[in-house]
Amino acid sequence: MTGHVSLVGAGPGDPELWTMRAVRRLEEADLVLYDALVDARALRRFTRAQCFCVGKRAGRESVRQETIHRLMIRAARAGKRVVRLKGGDPFVFGRGAEEALALAMAGIPFEVVPGVSSAIAAAELARIPVTHRGLASGFLVLSGHDADGFDAGLNAVQPNVVSLVILMGLGARGDLAARLAARGWSWGTPAAIVCGASTPDEWIWTGSLAEIGETELPGGVAGVIVIGDVVRVREALVTATSREHTADEVKYGRS
Ligand SMILES: C[S@@+](CC[C@H](N)C(=O)[O-])C[C@H]1O[C@@H](n2cnc3c(N)ncnc32)[C@H](O)[C@@H]1O
Repeated sequence: MTGHVSLVGAGPGDPELWTMRAVRRLEEADLVLYDALVDARALRRFTRAQCFCVGKRAGRESVRQETIHRLMIRAARAGKRVVRLKGGDPFVFGRGAEEALALAMAGIPFEVVPGVSSAIAAAELARIPVTHRGLASGFLVLSGHDADGFDAGLNAVQPNVVSLVILMGLGARGDLAARLAARGWSWGTPAAIVCGASTPDEWIWTGSLAEIGETELPGGVAGVIVIGDVVRVREALVTATSREHTADEVKYGRS
């Protein structure tokens, strides 16, 4: 008797950004293993399944990755419908592919249910488009967690050509800014930090690459860094909205 596992993306925080397929899988689930950034109270509204938080919570370590694999495999082998609910999209820096590989190697049927990634949504909720005609024809998403990986990713693009979105980079933001400047990114490049996007703790800062290291952040909230001229679109949108300008009056400059 084999059940199956759904690796489901839970978006950046607000349950209204869960997909319909995510909600359906939760309704049908027997067991839900969820990450710390998932709204646990909302989860209870959508499922009668047993729910366990396996993510890092204040003062407590997260459950080891191998243990998560074992829990999913054991439950599926017992015939259970398991939902592994992960923040954002399961395959964006979430170790979702490691979980998929572990399931595949154990012969467990599984699916991936994409989620709204904070890599795009955090900027967007702050009214920053990650691409914009004339400002950025693409965007690069990097982890700020590992300096070598960050440098290798940066080497793939020319300075100030694409927008950069950095996840897991708040703690090292000053160092990351210096690494960008060392590769030719202008210190005046517009920058934004968006913490707790789509949650009641949402917090947005805008400034320049030069200022990012000195910026004080709210504690205990996950955040992304956005770097590039696209940040100016937010200012233009905020100004236009507050003055009720029409869209074609909105002006923005380049760094
Ligand atoms: C381990 S990564 C997982 C990313 C996730 N899979 C996704 O697609 O959004 C965790 C990082 O995502 C970012 N993040 C997640 N939720 C966020 C939110 N609501 N607001 C801002 N950043 C968020 C932060 O950079 C955080 O350190």
